[in-house]
Amino acid sequence: MEKLGMDLQMSIDDKRVRSGIEGFDVLLQGGYPQGSVTLVAGTPGTGKTIVCFQYLFEGIKNNEKCLFLTSDERIDNLINQANKFGFDFKPSVKNGLLKFMYLDLEKQTVHTEMESEILTGKYSRVVLDSLTPLSETPVWVVNRGSEIIPLLDAGGNAQIPLDSIQATRMHVRRILRILEDDDCTALVTSEIAEGSRNLSRDSVSEFLVDGILVLDLDPSMDRRKLTVRKMRGTKHTLKPRDIEIASKGGIRVL
Ligand SMILES: Nc1ncnc2c1ncn2[C@@H]1O[C@H](COP(=O)(O)OP(=O)(O)OP(=O)(O)O)[C@@H](O)[C@H]1O
Ligand SMILES: [Mg+2]
Repeated sequence: MEKLGMDLQMSIDDKRVRSGIEGFDVLLQGGYPQGSVTLVAGTPGTGKTIVCFQYLFEGIKNNEKCLFLTSDERIDNLINQANKFGFDFKPSVKNGLLKFMYLDLEKQTVHTEMESEILTGKYSRVVLDSLTPLSETPVWVVNRGSEIIPLLDAGGNAQIPLDSIQATRMHVRRILRILEDDDCTALVTSEIAEGSRNLSRDSVSEFLVDGILVLDLDPSMDRRKLTVRKMRGTKHTLKPRDIEIASKGGIRVL
């Protein structure tokens, strides 16, 4: 009985979610671990958003509910961009399988709106593109589980400096916790500044996620690379793999 229980637990833990990237799942023992949060990090133009498109398109093909959280106001642009690679999102948006949600970073309620959408929407796949501007907005914390207000002392001053590492860590952790819902598997993009050795601009996200993919460019060789830097419960290579971006189908591991 005990043994059967353990086997069952292992098979539940080991459920994999396919990436939609040709040649990639085999490097991850079948895909992203179900329920995990993976950071997709890279400098500008390395293909982070395309990784997200492919991930959600794969979900749609399997009739899974998908959510694309974006801090970019022009959702139509995003849909057109995806269309250029052959990912037609319009029918899925129409029939409710896919939702694009704009995150208005000016609003104090941005986190609660995101949280309630994820909790009520019962999404299998969630993408947040990108974490960077969200992590750079001022720190807000949950007060009595409903309102989001800044943590202030009696004098109305922030208890910890807003630009401190503790503040950023707290803030990023709060965002990632929202995505840590067991039923959904999430991708979160993060912008790396050119020349930086960190995997995110906030330099803490990489410690708080289950997996990290790094997208890279080698301009002198005209090559693109994809590296799995970390993936919870997965035996994977650390070697950068050559990838290409094709007009039809997006990213493919060579
Ligand atoms: N049709 C295409 N064929 C091949 N490569 C393309 C095509 N269209 C775009 N690309 C490449 O994809 C890149 C854009 O990919 P994507 O938008 O996913 O990057 P990103 O990492 O999200 O960038 P950002 O940090 O600006 O958001 C372009 O800079 C270009 O190099
Ligand atoms: Mg992008």
